[in-house]
Amino acid sequence: MPVPASVVVTGAASQVGFFLLQRLAEAGCRVVAVSRRPQAQAVASFGERWPGGGAARWIQADLEQPADDSWTGGYECWIHLGPLRLVPALLESGRASSIRRVIAFGSTSRFTKARSTHPREQRLVADLEAGEAGLARSCAAAGIGWTLFRPTLIQGAGLDRNVMVIAAAIRRFRLFPLVGDGTGLRQPVHADELAAACVSALASPASEGRAYNLSGGEVLSYREMVLRIFRAVGRPPRLVPVPVAAVGLALWCLSRLPRYRDFNIEMARRMAEDMVFDHGDALRDFGYRPRSFEPVVERPA
Ligand SMILES: NC(=O)c1ccc[n+]([C@@H]2O[C@H](COP(=O)([O-])OP(=O)(O)OC[C@H]3O[C@@H](n4cnc5c(N)ncnc54)[C@H](OP(=O)(O)O)[C@@H]3O)[C@@H](O)[C@H]2O)c1
Repeated sequence: MPVPASVVVTGAASQVGFFLLQRLAEAGCRVVAVSRRPQAQAVASFGERWPGGGAARWIQADLEQPADDSWTGGYECWIHLGPLRLVPALLESGRASSIRRVIAFGSTSRFTKARSTHPREQRLVADLEAGEAGLARSCAAAGIGWTLFRPTLIQGAGLDRNVMVIAAAIRRFRLFPLVGDGTGLRQPVHADELAAACVSALASPASEGRAYNLSGGEVLSYREMVLRIFRAVGRPPRLVPVPVAAVGLALWCLSRLPRYRDFNIEMARRMAEDMVFDHGDALRDFGYRPRSFEPVVERPA
């Protein structure tokens, strides 16, 4: 099955968008990129050599403003890289009536944060659950083919708040605090693997009406993940064992800053938990074969 001729990408200024715009253009699609940010701002944060900007027509719009429908008309396919909770209302509003195929992103946080006691995380899980159900419901009502991706921790563009935050702490303090022995398992995924998965899934009828957990190609402990980040930053590894309460306090202090307002003690507790997800059904349906973990610790130049 060929990829659709026209694709609108919302949340285009995301780390996945960084790779996706270029991949879609290379696959021969007419691409429209939608972001709340002006194109010049996205280009500035993506770096001078970012090829995606030239690959797409850029529309600045806010999906939460119903009056703003500058982006909704005339595209066959919609790939949404922003919050999943926005999708059902947009489809049910009839504003995107030309759309025949949707790929939207949820998160494996739906499962890993399901037992969280933090109100913000509980809201996130509820939003993800409602978003998934709403995606299936609204697409069924409108006769649209849908695919849901639930990635694990995403990195690879130098724009994430996982690997890049650890790298920044290592640069600044020359050490990293570890709760317990850091044996909780992780499976980080490269943003470009997810961009490639979007293009492959568009060409795969088997992926319609299905949700996929998209994890990375390597399972490693939290400790090993941090050690690789030390290596990528070029610093000798210094892991300092600390009680969960001390890391929790540090995260709470950081959460006072607007940039880190989603940090909380639950994150410290989860360091010891396994966050591993099988992606065998994505391999079967659209050949998803993610690479091993190679941390990217620099912002785009
Ligand atoms: N980062 C992770 O580790 C991770 C893990 C699992 C799942 N996910 C999910 O996977 C998807 C892609 O992740 P990512 O890390 O590449 O995303 P990201 O870099 O965090 O960017 C998210 C995008 O969502 C858009 N967005 C946020 N709030 C919005 C709103 N109210 N209205 C319209 N757009 C809004 C932003 O669009 P603008 O361009 O308008 O600013 C931004 O480009 C997201 O749905 C994310 O929730 C992420």
